[in-house]
Amino acid sequence: MNLIEVRDYEEMSQIAADYLVKQVRKNPASVLGLATGGTPQKMYELLIADHKKNKTNYNTITTFNLDEYMGLKPTDPTSYRYYMDQNLFNHINVQEKNINLPSGLAANVEEECKKYEVRIQEKGGIDLQILGIGSNGHIGFNEPRTAFSSRTHVVNLTASTREANARFFDSIKEVPTQAITMGIATIMESKEILLLVSGEEKADAMKRLFSQEEPNEQFPASILKNHPHVTIVADKKALKGVVVPV
Ligand code: GLP
Repeated sequence: MNLIEVRDYEEMSQIAADYLVKQVRKNPASVLGLATGGTPQKMYELLIADHKKNKTNYNTITTFNLDEYMGLKPTDPTSYRYYMDQNLFNHINVQEKNINLPSGLAANVEEECKKYEVRIQEKGGIDLQILGIGSNGHIGFNEPRTAFSSRTHVVNLTASTREANARFFDSIKEVPTQAITMGIATIMESKEILLLVSGEEKADAMKRLFSQEEPNEQFPASILKNHPHVTIVADKKALKGVVVPV
């Protein structure tokens, strides 16, 4: 794991946006894995600004989002599809047919999960996956104790994850109890991973990630130690008290 230590959220977002633009310019047919949540929001803002200014072309890219809540329509303001539309897709020239999120409304969820995996394979796999991390070490919505061999699947969200995400809803009662997420194995097949981490509430997760702890399913992000091409962009607050091995 390669670590880039940055000052703050702004610098993390700028580095992440530059990284992504570079990828798209290098390979205009890039398959991007995208994340939601608070962490990548500013990165998306910077991508939109860059698209306006420098005309970075997204016409031939394909996107796969990590996850989606169960039971929310794509037009629901709290769905991840809506988040992506508002924060990125409506402002760049990505083609609708190239946008992929699992559907939380699928009548046959098992089938939907399988189809999502097939679509990723058909596109040749994910070139660059953007990841955030939950304070309990979850990646995507893969909560502690999710099998490392998991592929796209339905998850029951933990109380702590629902609480952490309640800020995007009117009240915690409205936070769905389930989601569909890429599995750990799905994420690990990405050719490259960019993990973005900002803020003190992530410091314990960072301490654990940089500890001697071997990859284990109690702490999902620990699997990233086994990936050959991971870059972590983390700010000072997230790295508070973290001893980075040399
Ligand atoms: C959420 C999302 C993850 C995200 C993580 C951190 O539950 N499903 O994809 O990376 O938790 O969220 P945030 O960036 O808001 O801290």
